[in-house]
Amino acid sequence: MSDLKRGLGEAVQAAFESLGLPAEFGRVTASDRPDLADFQCNGALAAAKSARRNPREIAAGIVDALAGRPELASVEIAGLGFINLRVSEKTLSARANEIAADPRAGAGLVEDTRRVLIDYGGPNVAKPMHVGHLRASIIGESIKRLYRFRGDDVLGDAHFGDWGFQMGLLIVAAIDDNADIKSVVDFVDKGGDQGMAGEALAKLIDLPMLDRLYPLAAGQAKADEAYRDRARKATAELQAGTRASYRLLWKRFVAASRLALEREFHDLGVDFDLWKGESDVDALIGPMVAELKAKGLAVPDQGALIVRVARPGETKKKKLPDGSVVEVPSPDPLLVVSSEGSAMYGTTDLATILDRRRTFDPHLILYCVDQRQADHFEQVFRAAYLAGYAVEGQLDHIGFGTMNGPDGKPFKTREGGVLKLNDLIEMARAKARERLHEAGLGSELTPEEFEDTAHKVGIAALKFADLSNFRGTSYVFDLDRFTSFEGKTGPYLLYQAIRVKSILRRAREEHVETGRIVIKEPAERDLALLLDAFETALSEAYDKKAPNFIADHAYKLAQAFSRFYAACPILGADNVAVRGSRLALAQASLKQLECALGLLGIETPERM
Ligand code: ARG
Repeated sequence: MSDLKRGLGEAVQAAFESLGLPAEFGRVTASDRPDLADFQCNGALAAAKSARRNPREIAAGIVDALAGRPELASVEIAGLGFINLRVSEKTLSARANEIAADPRAGAGLVEDTRRVLIDYGGPNVAKPMHVGHLRASIIGESIKRLYRFRGDDVLGDAHFGDWGFQMGLLIVAAIDDNADIKSVVDFVDKGGDQGMAGEALAKLIDLPMLDRLYPLAAGQAKADEAYRDRARKATAELQAGTRASYRLLWKRFVAASRLALEREFHDLGVDFDLWKGESDVDALIGPMVAELKAKGLAVPDQGALIVRVARPGETKKKKLPDGSVVEVPSPDPLLVVSSEGSAMYGTTDLATILDRRRTFDPHLILYCVDQRQADHFEQVFRAAYLAGYAVEGQLDHIGFGTMNGPDGKPFKTREGGVLKLNDLIEMARAKARERLHEAGLGSELTPEEFEDTAHKVGIAALKFADLSNFRGTSYVFDLDRFTSFEGKTGPYLLYQAIRVKSILRRAREEHVETGRIVIKEPAERDLALLLDAFETALSEAYDKKAPNFIADHAYKLAQAFSRFYAACPILGADNVAVRGSRLALAQASLKQLECALGLLGIETPERM
C-alpha cells in the first residue's frame, strides 16, 4: 500500500481517463478544508477550461466514476467543481496499521536512486567560521540524511578549506611570531631532518595559537601591501611544493584545526563522510590547467589565466574608478591561475569536480553553501560544463540566506565577530538548562542525564529554528524564542516526543499491549491522516532540497498528537481494544516524529 494521497490520485486519474480527459488533471492534494474533506482534486476546473466544458459537469462525471470505491467514505462536488474526497475508516485504519508496522514510518523510497555527493559545511583551516558555515552544516546535514533515507547513495564532504591565501598568511604570521618556529623553518630550508622538524612543530603550534594569529595576520595584510605580498608568495611556494618547511608548517596547521573542528561539528550532530581538503586536488590542477589551455578555454589576461564563462550578449554595467560606466561580460570570468601563479578558490573547485568524478562518479553534486557565493558557483559550473567535466544539471548550488543578529546583519557573537561553534552550542545549552529549570523539568534526572537533555534541547533549538524556515529566507537569531517549550520550536517537539515516551513507559509498566488500530474519533482521523502525509512532506523536501517541509510536518504531527491525546484517553480508555489501538497510534506517532527529527539532525532525549 502506498500513501493515501498517491493511491487516491491514481484512482482519480483513472476516472479522468475514463472520461476521455488527460490523467494529469486527476492530481489529488490534502484538503484545504479538513472540516469538509480529507483530500481534494481541483482538476475538473482546469479540464473544463481546456475542453471548453462546464466544470461541474466534468466533476459530476468523476464523482460517478469513483462512486462505490471501497476506500472512499464520500466523494462530493463543492463550489465551482472542486471534488472533495473523504477516506473510509477502514482504509484509514489499514493505512495507520501499515505505518505502525513499518520501520520507515510510512516513508517511501525514490524510484531511481542516484549517487549524490553533498558538499557542505566548508570550514577553513584557522579562518574563523561565520553563520554561513553554521547554516551550511545544519542544512547540508539534513539534506544528506534525507537523500540517504530516500535510498540514494550519498557521501557528505566537508570540502575543508586548506589551500588558499589564508595558508600563506598563517605561514608568514607563525614565522614572524615565534623565533622557535622560525629556526625550525630555517633548519628544514638548510636540509635538516623533516621528521624531527615535524615533531618540533607539533609542540610549537596549537589551535589557540592559530586562532590568535589569523585575525592579526588578516588585519595586517589589509593594511600593509608588503606583508600581503609576502603572504601571497608564501601561498604560491606552498602550492608549488618548493619549500618543504612550508609544507610541514601547513600540515601542522591542518592537523590542529581539523581535530578541533571535527569535535565541534560532532557536538552539533554533524558528521562528514569525507574530510577532503582543497589541497587534495593539488596534483590534478597542473594537468587540468594544461587541458583547459589546450582546449582554448583558459586564456591569459593581465598575467593571470582566466576562463571566460559569459555567453554572447550576457553583460552587466560596471562603474570604473573614473566614474564612467561600461558594459562588461557577466558572469565574470573564472580566475584559474593568479598572476603570482597560485591556484584560486574556483580552481580547486573545478579540479574537485574531476576528483569526485574519478572517485565516486556522482550523478549529482549538491553544494550547500551560502547564497552569497552564488556568483562563484555560477562561474565554476559554467566552466565545468564548457570543459565537459560535468553535464548541465549535474551541479546544483543549494544556497541559503543568513542568520542575522538583531541589527539585521549576519549574526556575530558579542566578543566582536568570531562565531565559535563551541561558544554557540554552549550558549544554547545554557539557555536550555535555564528553560528546563523554569518549566520544572528534569528535576528527576541524574546530573549526567540532565546535561544530556540540556544539550539535546539546545541543539534542537538551534537546528529547528534554522530548518523550519525555507532555506532561502534569512532569519533573526533569537535564542529566547528558539528555546521556548511553546510554539513552533525544537524544544516543543522534543517535549511532545518525551510525553509519548512516558506514556509508552507507563503502558509497559501497566502491561498494556498495543493492538490493531481502528480509527473512529475525529482526533484519531486527523492524526492518522497526518501520519499518512509524511511521504508527501518528504518527497517535497527531497525535490526542493528544502528540509522545512520535514520541519513543518513534524510540527503538525506533534500538534495532532497533542489534540488526540487531549480528546482520546489512551491508558484510561476502558475498552481493551480501544486502549490497544490508541497505544499503537501513539507509538506510530512517536516513531514517525523521531524519524522526522532525525532527518533534521535532531536527537530526542529519553526523559526531561
Ligand atoms: N571554505 C569555503 C568558505 O569558507 C566554503 C566551501 C564551500 N564549498 C565549495 N565547494 N566551494 O567560503
